[in-house]
Amino acid sequence: MGLMRTALLAGSHSTWLRERATRYGFVRRSVSRFMPGERIEDALAAAEGLRPRRIATILTQLGENITALEEGDEVTRHYLDVLERVSRANLDAQISVKLTQLGLDQDKERCFANLMLLLQRAAPLGNVVWIDMESSEYVDATLDQFRRARAVSDRVGVALQAYLRRTPADLESLLPLGPAIRLVKGAYREPPELAFPRKVDVDEAYYSLATRFLSSSPLATGAFLGIATHDSRLIDRLGRFLATIPAASDRYEFEMLYGIQRPLQTRLVDEGSRLRVLISYGDYWFPWYMRRLAERPANVLFVVKSLLAG
Ligand code: FDA
Repeated sequence: MGLMRTALLAGSHSTWLRERATRYGFVRRSVSRFMPGERIEDALAAAEGLRPRRIATILTQLGENITALEEGDEVTRHYLDVLERVSRANLDAQISVKLTQLGLDQDKERCFANLMLLLQRAAPLGNVVWIDMESSEYVDATLDQFRRARAVSDRVGVALQAYLRRTPADLESLLPLGPAIRLVKGAYREPPELAFPRKVDVDEAYYSLATRFLSSSPLATGAFLGIATHDSRLIDRLGRFLATIPAASDRYEFEMLYGIQRPLQTRLVDEGSRLRVLISYGDYWFPWYMRRLAERPANVLFVVKSLLAG
């Protein structure tokens, strides 16, 4: 793992840094590349803006590791409202939640109850609830909650991280459920015993997990893959594989983050691929933003440019 990436991911946990950095205009300006605004209205307006370009969306309110259970209930109420707003606006916009935002650290059963409230609202509206994958200490608990939720409804999906050495085994154990999986490379700082430190190994693991999923028989029973990456080389390689299995054509979509690789987003849509863009909003953006910087240290240059632009 590069020094810059390590430093940025370490910084993402710093309360000291968060409290100071978020006050500076130049930091806020550079964040706006990845986030249309802090309010749900900003996110919904951005989703409306993407609709004519045939880009569907996922909405996520930034936040993680809440410190009081009541906050989890509040986040749940917020997302219930988002589901209603999306339905009223007739938008193809799903929601994505972090379980530590619903109370996973405080009370697993209350967290699950919150997740079920969201699912019970999403299902009749024809919507979907995605569960983000957080750092490795949460994988077991997250998959456990996903399995329980999946037993009740198929309108729930979970992210799996290709950088984790355990993920092929997790994928095998989930496949019989005919699951909706969002495959990501992984955004947290993990030790080499748990996660591949080299990008080339992560990329290879990603390809192998995606092709395993797409050629598996549960595809017939409702399984769905979100190919969540901005890596054009990997996308092209997977595209060649996908061309050999037409049966998978309505069983996957590409997913990217708002503001990242826009030309690639346009290209995929122009080629007829399905694309969904994840739009983040909320005022707790600092750790998330540091993870975005860590993904591409060249982004730090944009922060510096924003500083110089005054
Ligand atoms: P990679 O990092 O190799 O980047 C490929 C290319 O994309 C780069 O060369 C650059 O051109 C561009 N790029 C990538 N990131 C960029 C950035 N921040 N700014 C500018 N350009 C950038 N992670 C996780 O641990 N749990 C989760 O639940 C999720 N959820 C999630 C949802 C969706 C829809 C997406 C797209 C991603 C996630 N992630 C995630 C984040 C994911 O793990 C990963 O950190 C990022 O997607 C970056 O990895 P790439 O696959 O894009 O490849």
